[in-house]
Amino acid sequence: MLLDGKVMMEYIGATGVPVKFDQVPIEEDINFHFIISFAIDADPLGKPQNGTFSPYWVPSLTPDSVAAIKASNPNVKALASLSGWSLGDKVLSWYNPVDPQLWISNAFTSLKSLATTYQLDGIDIDYENFPKHNESFAYCIGELITLLKNQSVISIATIAPFHTTTIPYLDLFNRYGGVIDYVNHQFYTDKVKTPRGYLEAFRLRASQFDKDKVLPSYEVNGRGIQGDAFFDALRLLEANGFDVNGVMIFSADASASNDYYYERKSQAFLLNSTTM
Ligand SMILES: *[C@@H]1O[C@H](CO)[C@@H](O)[C@H](O)[C@H]1NC(C)=O
Ligand SMILES: *[C@@H]1O[C@H](CO)[C@@H](O)[C@H](O)[C@H]1NC(C)=O
Ligand SMILES: *[C@@H]1O[C@H](CO)[C@@H](O)[C@H](O)[C@H]1NC(C)=O
Ligand SMILES: *[C@@H]1O[C@H](CO)[C@@H](O)[C@H](O)[C@H]1NC(C)=O
Repeated sequence: MLLDGKVMMEYIGATGVPVKFDQVPIEEDINFHFIISFAIDADPLGKPQNGTFSPYWVPSLTPDSVAAIKASNPNVKALASLSGWSLGDKVLSWYNPVDPQLWISNAFTSLKSLATTYQLDGIDIDYENFPKHNESFAYCIGELITLLKNQSVISIATIAPFHTTTIPYLDLFNRYGGVIDYVNHQFYTDKVKTPRGYLEAFRLRASQFDKDKVLPSYEVNGRGIQGDAFFDALRLLEANGFDVNGVMIFSADASASNDYYYERKSQAFLLNSTTM
């Protein structure tokens, strides 16, 4: 088997740094997913558009550059991440659409257009703020992913919960888990600094979601576990019976300054580990 199912999830484009795909080291035996951040259901002032998504990632990530990186690396896939924390000064939130069917239809049409322009293979769900009543999130997002997959617009869907957004994401996962491929849980928000703490956080998320879909994650120059302790944590996960099938990193924007140390080492770890 050429690709044994090991995956990298690399967020890119969220911070305004003029980052490029071809600067990032890519191992040919890894299923390498660039998660382009972010496509947002809002106008430039942050006003919601009833499900019509527009690209707000850094302009250096052009349609031609996606085409080029996919042509030179057949193992690369491109996903658009939906929402993120904010647009400019405006904090973004899920909102209950007046007309859920209209929201799903607008989201489908706008994302299909983005998928064509940018050769996208999938979407990542990264809503980070929710109203008290948020049941419409699971319904609208679950139906959207189902439709995008059914119409062969996308083949991959991932979700990115963090410690205070578990409830709406579990609602989504419990109802639509069949169309969700990976859970990019933001472990760096779980406030664990040690491998032992990381193992316990992973154990919790693996029990809430599906242990084979939850990926360990690392924030470059960020919160949570830092430095080589992350790789000690990965080894501890394997020693405790978890298959480390992939790694999520946030984000390429911060990694240029250290020559993509965590991307290189994560891929080396995945290629070296014997579990599947
Ligand atoms: C969203 O839909 C509602 C209800 O159809 C409409 O009143 C509103 O103007 C729409 N908003 C935008 C930004 O299109
Ligand atoms: C989402 O909805 C549930 C159920 O109404 C509620 O318990 C929760 O606080 C809401 N918000 C978040 C971020 O989970
Ligand atoms: C799409 O949905 C229809 C109706 O449920 C089903 O018959 C068809 O097999 C689905 N196609 C794919 C590619 O999932
Ligand atoms: C590869 O595996 C060996 C044996 O398990 C281990 O000693 C070594 O540190 C690993 N290398 C990496 C890069 O993880």
